[in-house]
Amino acid sequence: MKLTLKVWRQKNSKEKGKIESYDIDKISPDMSFLEMMDVLNEKLTIEGLDPVAFDHDCREGICGSCSMFINGEAHGPDRLVTTCQLHMRKFNDGETIYIEPFRAKTFPVIKDLVVDRSSFDRIQHAGGFISVNTSGNTQDANSIPIEKQKADNAFDAATCIGCGACVATCKNSSAMLFVSAKVSQYALLPQGKIEATDRVLNMVKQMDDEGFGNCTNTGACEVECPKGISLENIARLNREFIKAKIKS
Ligand code: SF4
Ligand code: FES
Repeated sequence: MKLTLKVWRQKNSKEKGKIESYDIDKISPDMSFLEMMDVLNEKLTIEGLDPVAFDHDCREGICGSCSMFINGEAHGPDRLVTTCQLHMRKFNDGETIYIEPFRAKTFPVIKDLVVDRSSFDRIQHAGGFISVNTSGNTQDANSIPIEKQKADNAFDAATCIGCGACVATCKNSSAMLFVSAKVSQYALLPQGKIEATDRVLNMVKQMDDEGFGNCTNTGACEVECPKGISLENIARLNREFIKAKIKS
């Protein structure tokens, strides 16, 4: 395949960026999108040019770091996949592809396609955990009965990889889908109920302090989420938040 790539280039967070155009060929339809980016970077390096900076780690849809906006969609045109799982067969020979970083005030660009998503880490640190006293005998996890449906829903929520596509897609840059997944994964399980009040209040406060926007129920986040995190989690987050407010 021959392609024209229009890529966002930005030296650092201070300088203004712009789209630059690159032509590449000999791209196999079976390559992943990141492998295609590797080919581009090899070409740029050979030509003595600065390769395009982009985040990646696992390259198998687990780490959530490959944040790219491709032809106007977070993680590109395929559904339920991350950029690293997107294949070039989803594009046509001769196509022009626009590649930009995830854009949100809370995700400032570090360089080219790399954005700073430490705001998500700070939300997670505010309450996305369970405190466990490890002294003495720990209770066998299997001795706590959990309804199958609740266990399944908690597992589904726990599949959120913190990629930030929901924020980049949302016209309000809302982080509600991410926070709701993190709150839900604990709220549904008995182990998570002990700290439930503090967790939801602290995580929502941190989300607001970071400057994420409000949710207006457009549902765009659910459509673009590579893990299929459901909007039902946002409804659960709202219920947990109201309960916590009344309690506190
Ligand atoms: S909810 Fe989905 S889109 Fe948002 S951070 Fe989690 S996995 Fe990514
Ligand atoms: S590189 Fe880890 S999810 Fe894409």
